[in-house]
Amino acid sequence: MENKLEKLVALCKRRGFVFPNSEIYGGLSGTWTYGHYGAELLHNIKQLWWQSFVSSRDDMLHIADSSIMPESVWAASGHLENFTDPLDGGKFNTMVKTSLGAKNGETVSAYFRPELAQGMFVNFKNIIDSMHPSLPFGIAQIGRAYRNEIAPREFLFRVREFDLMEFEYFVRERDWEKYFEMWRKEMWIWIEEIGLDKDKVHELEVSESDRAHYSKRTIDFEYDFSFGRKELYGLAYRTDFDLKNHMEKSGVDMNYLDSETNKKFLPHVIEPTFGAGRTFLAVLDSAYTEDELGDEPRVYLKLAPKLAPIKAAVFPLLKNKPELVSRAREVYNNLKTMSYVLGPIQWDDNGNIGKR
Ligand code: GAP
Repeated sequence: MENKLEKLVALCKRRGFVFPNSEIYGGLSGTWTYGHYGAELLHNIKQLWWQSFVSSRDDMLHIADSSIMPESVWAASGHLENFTDPLDGGKFNTMVKTSLGAKNGETVSAYFRPELAQGMFVNFKNIIDSMHPSLPFGIAQIGRAYRNEIAPREFLFRVREFDLMEFEYFVRERDWEKYFEMWRKEMWIWIEEIGLDKDKVHELEVSESDRAHYSKRTIDFEYDFSFGRKELYGLAYRTDFDLKNHMEKSGVDMNYLDSETNKKFLPHVIEPTFGAGRTFLAVLDSAYTEDELGDEPRVYLKLAPKLAPIKAAVFPLLKNKPELVSRAREVYNNLKTMSYVLGPIQWDDNGNIGKR
C-alpha cells in the first residue's frame, strides 16, 4: 500500500498544488514549485500568520530585508562556526554561499540567509531610531530562507529553500519567562486556527546539547507526520546573544534607551519561528480525507475555510442547457464582485454536476 506521504505527493502533483522544481530537466533536489492551488494555500497561510501575529497587534513592527547578507553578519552571529551538520567525522556548514561582483579582487563573499532573525538584529538600530518603539515589541518578517541541507527529504519537510515566518520579540531580561509563556500559548492558538489535528502536535523541551548556539531555552512544537514525529515550529529564548555580538563586532551601539529611567541596555529576545512549507505539509496531512460516496472511493481535503485556496465555486447543473449556464454565470459574476472579501471564486462547467 502506498504510504500517506506518497499519496500526498501524488495528490499535490495531480491537483496542481506542488511540482518538482525544473522537472523537465530532471529536477533539483530539495527545491519545489507551488502550483496554482498550492501557491494560493501557501499565500493564505502567510496572510493568516501575518494577520494573527503582526497586523492584529499593536506591538509589532514589520521589515522586509534582503535575503543575501555579507559574511561579517554570519561571523558575528556565530553561523559561520556553528551552523553545521556532521559529515564523515568533520563539519559541513549548511549556509548557501555566493560571491558578488565580477572582477578578481573586487568580489565579496555573501550568504543567502538561513534564518530571517539576523535581519531584525543587524537593522535594530535603524529600526529603533526611526520607529521609537517601547518595550516589549516585536520585529517580524516573512521571507525566503536557504539551507544547503546535506540530505533533503520527505517532500516539503526538509528542503533547501523555504519561506520562514519569524519574529523577534524584545523584552526586558527580567520578563523573559513571562513572554516565553505568552508566545507558547499564542502558538497553540495558531495551531488550532489552521486546523491541525491537535492530538498530533507535541511540545519538546530541547536539551542543552541539542539547542542552537544562541539559545538558553527552546521548545520545539513537533507534529506526528506519517514519517515520524518531527519539528514543526520552534520557540527560543535567544537572550541578548545576537545584539551583543553585533554590537561587539560592528562597533555600533545597539543599546535601547529606556525613556522612563533614562537607562541604556540590550533587550533580550523571545523568538517564535514557523516554517511555511512545514505548515503547508502538516495542514495537508491533517486535512487529507478518504471515504466513499455511493460505492465510489474519494479523496478530499478538509481544509480550514480561512486557508482553503478556493472560497466558493459555481457549477452549472448541465453544460448543454444554455439558460442554466447563463443563470449560473450571473451568480458567478455576482460572487466575483465580492472576491476582494471572499477570496478566489471558481467557475467550473466541465463536471456535468447535474448528471452526477
Ligand atoms: N531563527 C530560528 C530558526 O531559524 P530553525 O529551527 O533552524 O530556527 C526555523 O528553523 C523553522 O524553519 C523550523 O521550525 C522549521 O519549521 C523550518 N525549517 C528549518 N529547516 C527547514 C528545512 N530544511 N526545510 C523546511 N523547513 C525548515
